[in-house]
Amino acid sequence: MTSRRKFILQSALAASSFPFILKATAAHHPSTNFPLVISTWDAGVKANAKAWEFLNNNKPALDAVEQGVMVIESEVNCCVGLGGNPDRDGFVTLDASIMNHLGDCGSVAALEQIEHPISVARAVMEKSPHVMLVGQGAQQFALANGFILKPKELSAEAEKSYQYWLKKSEYRPIINVENNGYKNNPPNKLDNGQFNHDTIAMLALDNLQNLSGSCTTSGMGFKYRGRVGDSPIIGAGLFVDNEIGAAAATGHGEEIIRIVGSHLVVEFMRQGKSPEAACKAAIERAIKLRGDKLKDKQIAFIAVNKHGEAAGYALQKGFSYALQSPKHNNELIEAKFFWQ
Ligand code: GLY
Repeated sequence: MTSRRKFILQSALAASSFPFILKATAAHHPSTNFPLVISTWDAGVKANAKAWEFLNNNKPALDAVEQGVMVIESEVNCCVGLGGNPDRDGFVTLDASIMNHLGDCGSVAALEQIEHPISVARAVMEKSPHVMLVGQGAQQFALANGFILKPKELSAEAEKSYQYWLKKSEYRPIINVENNGYKNNPPNKLDNGQFNHDTIAMLALDNLQNLSGSCTTSGMGFKYRGRVGDSPIIGAGLFVDNEIGAAAATGHGEEIIRIVGSHLVVEFMRQGKSPEAACKAAIERAIKLRGDKLKDKQIAFIAVNKHGEAAGYALQKGFSYALQSPKHNNELIEAKFFWQ
């Protein structure tokens, strides 16, 4: 064999065994735990199950976090996606973002009539020179890239909530309605005039020890037309730094934007904090900034570091997250919270 052919063969062998080499190296860290997927709220269990199919088959974290949240985006009477509550003018507008281990990211905001905003966000990342597209431009881009325009109609449950809301037309976000329950009483079925936001955020660490994240929502129900929350804003609703870790947010978007929450959580991990301590420190930052203005609001974070330590933390009681890894069997875990 010529030395050149020998070199090519050795390179090919090295490339094919790359995942195993990485895993063996990482095993020296006491808390190594991957692949891993963590998602917000009860709906995260179902989303994690889909994401795990990808992670368990050595697929990239980016595919896992896209496909995982798509399952929830398609649910007719649940939270995120086109089944969500409309804005005050009766339109469902969707926000989503996605970010990979290379720092590539894409997002859409105020997108209408498209079933999978997360996939449009990925298309923005992969097929446009931009990071964020909004409103009509985002829809135009989606249609140009093969996405299908869905009817404008609200789901039956969202229509019911909207008609109820119209009676008083108050803007009154309430804490934790998501957790009240996705399982037995999907949020859009509320008929007591209360309304909610709902978000699914997901972070994954794949078998190559690469991180990605996704975040998708229909935003605050009965929001002003044109309102955009934290979910599509890179650094607020989602942030990934493949050297350190990843974080994502749920809850009252305006409060998360004010502290650029997810980026803050990653920076706290960079300083050496565990994922839970980093989420807690970000919540403390929000309290320092806003104090009692947060009394009736919820914000929460999930985070994972490069070794596969993962956790969530919330401002108020009632936030839960789903976790699947070699050490966790897609369990729904009630997060610790600041205000006891
Ligand atoms: N966290 C979702 C929103 O505020 O829209």
